[in-house]
Amino acid sequence: MNIAVKNPFDLDQESAYKAWREAKLKDYPESLGDLVVEIKDPRNLSDAEYQEIHRLCRKANMAIWAGLSGHDSDKNIIRNLGRRFGLEHLDHNMCADEDAITSLTVQSDALHQGYIPYTTRPIAWHTDGYYNLLDHQIHGLLLHCVNPAAEGGENDLLDHEIVYLLIRDKNPDFISALMHPRAMTIPANIADGKELRPARSGPVFAVYPDGHLHMRYTDRTRSIEWGEIPLLDEAVDFLKQTLRTSTAWHYRGKLQAGQGLVSNNVLHTRSGFEDHGQQRLLYRARYFDRIKET
Ligand SMILES: [Fe+2]
Repeated sequence: MNIAVKNPFDLDQESAYKAWREAKLKDYPESLGDLVVEIKDPRNLSDAEYQEIHRLCRKANMAIWAGLSGHDSDKNIIRNLGRRFGLEHLDHNMCADEDAITSLTVQSDALHQGYIPYTTRPIAWHTDGYYNLLDHQIHGLLLHCVNPAAEGGENDLLDHEIVYLLIRDKNPDFISALMHPRAMTIPANIADGKELRPARSGPVFAVYPDGHLHMRYTDRTRSIEWGEIPLLDEAVDFLKQTLRTSTAWHYRGKLQAGQGLVSNNVLHTRSGFEDHGQQRLLYRARYFDRIKET
């Protein structure tokens, strides 16, 4: 008897996909407000607070906590919240602080220069770590706001499983093109003639051995190469159009002090912002783990 669980992201499993699709869209949150969970002490989540955040992450791959920590800049808040959700293995990326948690704030020193996250400029749709090695992809992403920008600095958020669903409904062959191992290449990062990171190729959508769907994507148009793969150009056009066409599942909001995002590295943007004297500060933690039991 074959008792193997059929993976809905497998293009050969049409009935598993149909069942997953129906379950996914049933009672799916249709506004950002539906994702917000009010919590008291972020250092000590109650079981009920934990369960509600976890339920949303199972459904939509993300949730927002709104706690009472205000402008408290203690990094243990984000670190401990991560641990509670099974997020342990932090990515020590190049611009992270020593503890691997990144302070997203305007920084103009030599290390950060040239990297958009540390400026006030907008950032297009992406998932984090798309330039990482394929065995070091980012599966969990937390943001925690200490000081919001005076103006702007909002995030669009979109569940990558919803994007998969919209593309597969349009044309399953688009998914197949986007799953090609050489679909998207990020050229090498070279500064002053020195290679800081070699070119990295990989798929946009990938199904991992535990069955979960991962997305690796940046909407930028410079410094990115698309493979010469049948239907890939059309698939990428449709993907870009999907990101730009607002639906009830496209969320937009601005994290306030004491609020944060917990996610399985969903698609997101950041709008440009102005500090006007109060310096925007968000902490970001990137994990090789996914939120447990999602
Ligand atoms: Fe990001």
